Amino acid sequence: MKQTPIDFQSAKRVIEGYGLPDFGKATIREVVAISSQLEEETGTEFIHMEMGVPGLPAAQVGVDAEIQALQKGIASIYPNINGIPEVKQEASRFIKAFINIDVAPEGCVPVTGSMQGTYASFLTSTQCTAGKDTILFIDPGFPVQKQQIAVIGSKYESFDVYEYRGEKLRGKLEGLLAKGNIAALVYSNPNNPAWFCLTDEELKIIGELANQYDTIVIEDLAYFAMDFRKELGTPFQPPYQPSVANYTDHYILQISGSKAFSYAGQRIGVTAISNKLYHRAYEGLTQRYGGGTFGTVYIHRVLYALSSGTSHSAQYALAAMFKAAADGSFHFLSIVKEYGRRAEKLKKIFTKYGFTIVYDQDLDEPIADGFYFTIAYPGMKGGELMEELIYYGISAISLSTTGSNQEGLRACTSFIKDHQYALLEERLALFAENRMK
Ligand SMILES: Cc1ncc(COP(=O)(O)O)c(C=O)c1O
Repeated sequence: MKQTPIDFQSAKRVIEGYGLPDFGKATIREVVAISSQLEEETGTEFIHMEMGVPGLPAAQVGVDAEIQALQKGIASIYPNINGIPEVKQEASRFIKAFINIDVAPEGCVPVTGSMQGTYASFLTSTQCTAGKDTILFIDPGFPVQKQQIAVIGSKYESFDVYEYRGEKLRGKLEGLLAKGNIAALVYSNPNNPAWFCLTDEELKIIGELANQYDTIVIEDLAYFAMDFRKELGTPFQPPYQPSVANYTDHYILQISGSKAFSYAGQRIGVTAISNKLYHRAYEGLTQRYGGGTFGTVYIHRVLYALSSGTSHSAQYALAAMFKAAADGSFHFLSIVKEYGRRAEKLKKIFTKYGFTIVYDQDLDEPIADGFYFTIAYPGMKGGELMEELIYYGISAISLSTTGSNQEGLRACTSFIKDHQYALLEERLALFAENRMK
């Protein structure tokens, strides 16, 4: 038997204890549970790369504003369902500063994280027009969003964009949209799990086709401006965060406080509904709710029914963080660039020991280093690699749970500690040596 940092029998027993028919399909929570249990039982440290949790402290400007708001007594009062004026105004200004597009404050609505933003967007979009009842995922993507579709009880279609980058995207997308059943399409940019970034050319294709087939585009900017190859962090100065908003009038941007501001714990983000979409009335919404436009139904019907608004104090925090970023006094990107530095080092170690980066290019340019990257090992299926790395005290999730057709894993840089580069190197050297045997 091969010598591995985690005893083979213990790992086998713990994994089997979870009764998973296919370990490669394990959810992030299951991988966390298995790796944490093994860590506890064996006393051997794991290099955790499965969870997409911010690994940096929350932005102080947000914490200060939130404490101040609480001290003023806002905790006892229901927040306005539309969002407090400060956060609406500052969100609109932040979008202008970093994407250079105009979304009226009216359409900028606080949500309890992008998680709620996409849920409400999927729900409202699929209720607009009879027959347009399906969400299209440009995959790979964030698995929980498909679970949202299951909870809502609507339908989805998806495709792995790996083979359809650049102009090839047009034919693929058109084939799907032309069927007429797609209410909205969704993607994240930068992408979770693969960290590729759709280019302006690709966003233009998406926007043009969305116009042609009257489809709403949900652009998930959970990793706002975190393409560290470009300097996207100077307010009101190009280059800007690329966006489909430049190419269509029917879009919804999801801007999360979780990663850019390390504010995940307070569950806060903003859904920005384009001016045109906000004011558009749809037959399906009129029939169901007796009136309203996309924007008013989204806020006063859907969000009202879901949570009656968003935590009052967190709205003050987000307003303060948006304001400081747009004022140029809070350089949020220089803080989160740490993820890029980690990815660069980790990718070097993995590739040194025979791994490859799965989604490695944005057309003719290597992908950026950031929050996530994808790895494969020659001749190994994703699920098999995921299990094998557990024996080496390394945990990551299989790409098969993300709608990807590629064999590999998603690795997240956020939990990596300084001493773990050497540990990873040591363990991967042993992995490579054992694979040769
Ligand atoms: C692509 C994507 N969208 C949305 C979210 C959720 O963001 P929030 O914490 O704002 O709900 C995440 C978090 O990992 C994500 O990766």
